[in-house]
Amino acid sequence: MTKKAPLPTAAAAVESDSERPVVALISAHIDMSFMRGPIAKAMPEADIRLWPKDDVTQADVALCWRPPHDVLGEMKRLRLVHGIGAGVDNILSLPDLPDVPVCRVVDPNHARGIVEYASWATLFFHRDFDVFQRNRLKRAWVQPRQRRAANVTVGIMGWGNLGRAVGSALKALGYTVRAWARTAHEEEGIEFFAGDGERAAFLEGTNILIALLPLTAGTNGILNADLFAGLPKGAAVVNIGRGELVNEPDLLASLDAGHLRGAVLDVFVQEPLPEDNPLWVNPRVFVTPHIASMADPDVIASQFVENIRRAFAGEAVINEVDRTRGY
Ligand code: GLV
Repeated sequence: MTKKAPLPTAAAAVESDSERPVVALISAHIDMSFMRGPIAKAMPEADIRLWPKDDVTQADVALCWRPPHDVLGEMKRLRLVHGIGAGVDNILSLPDLPDVPVCRVVDPNHARGIVEYASWATLFFHRDFDVFQRNRLKRAWVQPRQRRAANVTVGIMGWGNLGRAVGSALKALGYTVRAWARTAHEEEGIEFFAGDGERAAFLEGTNILIALLPLTAGTNGILNADLFAGLPKGAAVVNIGRGELVNEPDLLASLDAGHLRGAVLDVFVQEPLPEDNPLWVNPRVFVTPHIASMADPDVIASQFVENIRRAFAGEAVINEVDRTRGY
């Protein structure tokens, strides 16, 4: 019996290319050094450099979160740009983005974190925890009637892998779930609405709106005065997509006018949310600091290293985003 040779590891495949990949970790907003260990573990031969401390001009690949505007364009050997999360809008918006594949991370545990956050936010409004939070400050003992979950319609905007995971979890909790996306979809037990033509009908019946859209030219500011006016009075808004999906002054105006009941927001136009932003203090807004879900560093590293191996081997990368579509 012949003994099978073990499958080459990603690292071995690059080594056989007799190249030592130079990996740049780049962010203008966060300390990317947390990725050093996981990448070194997955690819011990990688030469890992941290911008701005190290020289990254000779980098072959870059792992980024909100990179600055003038760094990637200087990397003449660059073969791959990788994000650390589900959304890569923060990379695609670069004016000097080189013409190389851009990849995102697709982590099943990432969807789990989003599902937990969306379930909590849905329960927060459905079971009136927002009201109790305000009543507590007034020492007001008020018992509202309990509503059945089936009588609450949650509308999800965005039907990617995260939207889909949230939809099935909320359905399992008994909610009535509908979804709106650019294109048509089908899934048992979920009512779908597609494109601009069906948006008004989608909004009309939504009690809790969950935004999980990618940020593109078409979705920037999509949650604006018009959209809020299309929701029934007393509807709530949850944003776990990107801050720029929401027109923040329009949201505040709709809350203050008493049309919207409340908002749970994890992402903001400007992050960290500036101290003087009125969202912090509005009694109808619950602010969390972009924590809904973060991809696991080991999963980021394994997908990144797999893509380094593929890029060096001239193979198609995984989880590449369509640059014109934006996700
Ligand atoms: C987080 O915001 C992500 O894009 O994964």
